Amino acid sequence: MAVLKIVKYPDPVLETLGERVTEFNDELKKLVEDMFETMYAAPGVGLAAPQVGVSKRVFVMDCSGGRDPAQKIAMINPEVLRTEGDQTGEEGCLSFPGIFFHVKRALRAVVRAQDVNGNEFEIDGLELTARCMLHETDHCDGILFIERTTPLKRQMAKRQIKKRIKSGEWDEERTKDEARRMK
Ligand code: NI
Repeated sequence: MAVLKIVKYPDPVLETLGERVTEFNDELKKLVEDMFETMYAAPGVGLAAPQVGVSKRVFVMDCSGGRDPAQKIAMINPEVLRTEGDQTGEEGCLSFPGIFFHVKRALRAVVRAQDVNGNEFEIDGLELTARCMLHETDHCDGILFIERTTPLKRQMAKRQIKKRIKSGEWDEERTKDEARRMK
């Protein structure tokens, strides 16, 4: 297993429609294992394949942050079947380090997907699970969470990112790696 480099905005892969997975082979299983490793190392509760530079409809999530094995889930070719109600809460994204804002999402979402062996299953998720599945399914569609906020907030976030790119603070991969090793 390996920790992969997380692609940051504005890399075009993040805004590209992911390809459907048709082969459930060892390559896919390795990608999923590496994505879990990368997500836990970040740390984060969800990570989609475009965020590691792979334009495929794959995401991993664990809303328990590694505490509950039942919540460690990989969803291949996710499809939102139903949503219900709404919730507004703070959201972040590993491709936007340090950027958080309130995003309105459905309170409940039923998502159908395939596992790494191609078997279909559904998750009926509430609150954080619903938010996470919707955020990650969006990634598979090339839609970013900044598109789910107001134009004003989006503009502010983009301005902040531009400043951080200019000052060299945006690509923190190396520093984070070093910080981890120091612990
Ligand atoms: Ni994200």
